Amino acid sequence: MTAPMVDLSHDASFAGGFPHATFDWLRDNDPVHWHAPTEATPDGEGFWVVSRYEDINAVFRTPELFSSDKGGDRRGGGTTLKDERAAGKILNYTDAPHHRTLRNLVNKGFNNRALAGLEAELRRRANRLIDAFPEGERFDFVSHFSRELPLQAICIILGVPQEDRTMLCDWIDNGIEAEGENVVAREYLRKVADYAQDIIQEKRQNPADDILSTIVHARLDEEGGRQLTDEELVNFFILLFPAGAETTRSAIGGGLRTLIEHPEQLTRLRADQTLLRTAIEEIARWTTPSIYKRRTVTRDTELCGRALRTGDKLTVWEMSANRDARIFNDPHNFDITRSPNPHLAYGKGAHICLGAGLARMELRISFETLFDRIVRFELAGPAEWTPNNRLLGLRQLPLTVAKR
Ligand code: HEM
Repeated sequence: MTAPMVDLSHDASFAGGFPHATFDWLRDNDPVHWHAPTEATPDGEGFWVVSRYEDINAVFRTPELFSSDKGGDRRGGGTTLKDERAAGKILNYTDAPHHRTLRNLVNKGFNNRALAGLEAELRRRANRLIDAFPEGERFDFVSHFSRELPLQAICIILGVPQEDRTMLCDWIDNGIEAEGENVVAREYLRKVADYAQDIIQEKRQNPADDILSTIVHARLDEEGGRQLTDEELVNFFILLFPAGAETTRSAIGGGLRTLIEHPEQLTRLRADQTLLRTAIEEIARWTTPSIYKRRTVTRDTELCGRALRTGDKLTVWEMSANRDARIFNDPHNFDITRSPNPHLAYGKGAHICLGAGLARMELRISFETLFDRIVRFELAGPAEWTPNNRLLGLRQLPLTVAKR
């Protein structure tokens, strides 16, 4: 059988959703695959493609060998295919010990206490969004709900004023839509960075009770008590804003779509909401909105019999890990009662998703309020995906609903 390969560096290969056939084949036949460079491949370089769960888990858990920063004599690195000069300067592009220092700064904004303080406000906002659903008429669930709730949540945590939120989200959405080497196109990232610079200045002068104010004024005890530079602060904003706004949207929208397509499971979940806990994990496994991570090999080694060289780019594909039949029974079957469910949708190891607790809470609030207020959901057209190989973005989900 010939390999159903697609160009994994080309955003267009993801325009119809995730290329499952390619990864089903890779897991069985070439689990550490060499992807030769193509016209779309950043830096004109090939890269390794790791597709099996156990290998991906091992890569996540061995940062000294598979760096999120740099490797060999590279001057750039990071966790996307393109070598980023910002490697070593952003939370998710660093290794220990600097990574731990940066992570400790923001952990507090996402712990259980901080989330508990946010729950009632998010529930109020979810209800208001549902108030505005047109009854009996076709509407887009993404723009009416699943884009909005995560956006509001991350903006409350960061302390972004209400009137700026949609503008920022439009910039990131447009930047992700644009074809190119960067996950978010440069011109749009520049706009967000300029905005970040201004809001950091504002928080410096008028600190408030938000995470941005906390990190603007924080001192790094581990690094001689210094404060973060403007560049580091802008980097934090550029990471946290899209990380919070983009991924959860696809999990909420993709989760609802999948439930509508599995009516017997939707009925069961509505009737017994104690199943929400396992359902939310299954939705994360099923939708896996953040689909690959890059690491850089720091010394010559071997993986699955393939010789990896110092400085090689290596990619691990969480969506593929989450469909690996070596770990998951009947992996292409959606099952809200699946347990255990050790999916890798939020990553693993030192860089495990900082916002996983927030994402889980947003998913729970979304489904609880939707089930409470809506008696019938119907798909009113095909879903549309954002062509991007890093974020499995749900662009549109046409629905009709009947409210209680
Ligand atoms: C369903 C929703 C989400 C998914 C699937 C997801 C997925 C991931 C994954 C796979 C990683 C690991 C990155 C790596 O190993 O290089 C990660 C890291 C991260 N996520 Fe999420 N995420 C989600 C929601 C959020 C939210 C709501 C936030 C809020 C700000 C967030 C913030 C972050 C940050 C800051 C990191 C970097 C952590 C570090 O490097 O220490 N994520 N996320």
